[in-house]
Amino acid sequence: MAAKIVIVGSFNMDLTAYAERMPKPGETLPGRKFVTGPGGKGSNQAVAAARLGADVTFIGRVGNDVFAEAALSFWKQEGIHTDFVARDPENATGVAPIWVDDSGENSIIVVLGANLHMTAADIDRATDVIAAADVVITQLEINYDMVDYAMKVAKTRGVRTILNPAPAGKLPRETVALADYLTPNETELEILSGISGDYEKAARSLLTREGQAAVVTIGAGGAQWVSPTTSTIIPAFKVTAVDTTGAGDAFNGGFAVALGEGKPLEEAIRFANATAALSVTKPGTAPSMPRRAEVEALLKG
Ligand code: ATP
Ligand code: RIB
Repeated sequence: MAAKIVIVGSFNMDLTAYAERMPKPGETLPGRKFVTGPGGKGSNQAVAAARLGADVTFIGRVGNDVFAEAALSFWKQEGIHTDFVARDPENATGVAPIWVDDSGENSIIVVLGANLHMTAADIDRATDVIAAADVVITQLEINYDMVDYAMKVAKTRGVRTILNPAPAGKLPRETVALADYLTPNETELEILSGISGDYEKAARSLLTREGQAAVVTIGAGGAQWVSPTTSTIIPAFKVTAVDTTGAGDAFNGGFAVALGEGKPLEEAIRFANATAALSVTKPGTAPSMPRRAEVEALLKG
């Protein structure tokens, strides 16, 4: 049976400019290409999970504008349930101007708009769907109170939670404690823990209760799984990176699906690495998320 994944998160319209290199402050550079496409960490993770065959419900908030219409028709096309997407009458749909250089590296500014205005009522309307989920996943592009609240609703119903603490921010320890799995990248780990240099020590400092684990994504290095007593690196798949934007989202979508399907943790991380590796071989964020068959083929080698 398909894993049931609930994502409480953001949508942004990504406005991506591709150029040879990043501009210096004050510099104007000619770009190679400009693309508008669906993004936002929550939505990207939802798309990744849906393309991997999961039954996905997205809880989020968009404005009353053309970007919101584009989001709703995109989710429909991807088979994502949108019954719990709220329309904000006052705040615009999130947008993300992005630069990508020739090495595939990216820089992003997010203007989160409606995403930051999610309310507890938006989440409460979906309580039954949350209670029936295999995994609930959230990120930091909605207001932090709702990150906390979404995980509380899930945990009180015995549902597993993943917190992808991206983009980097400081969170109360009580919120971090609600996550069964934390999936920071290196920068997010440093900011969340206040510890630099030693990933293992930093990740372990975030684990405060039984049953928690951290999975630190380390780009082309793969991912490091840290438990209170062990630490294991699960290497990345070797691919040629074209655009790494959304790699973390692909990883989280893949990780949620694998856990939801009952795969053991190490296997779930390998599955997530494969999903993310395929996503960096294509341009864009949500559009670069791979299909299940491609992931299975890469895993078989
Ligand atoms: P982004 O912010 O660009 O979405 P991130 O910083 O959140 O990414 P990373 O740690 O860079 O996340 O990458 C997430 C995962 O993507 C890695 O754990 C790895 O599995 C995969 N990945 C990233 N870059 C590469 C690469 N060059 N080759 C293979 N896999 C990669
Ligand atoms: O993780 C990539 C995403 O971050 C982009 O889609 C952009 O919208 C920003 O939220």
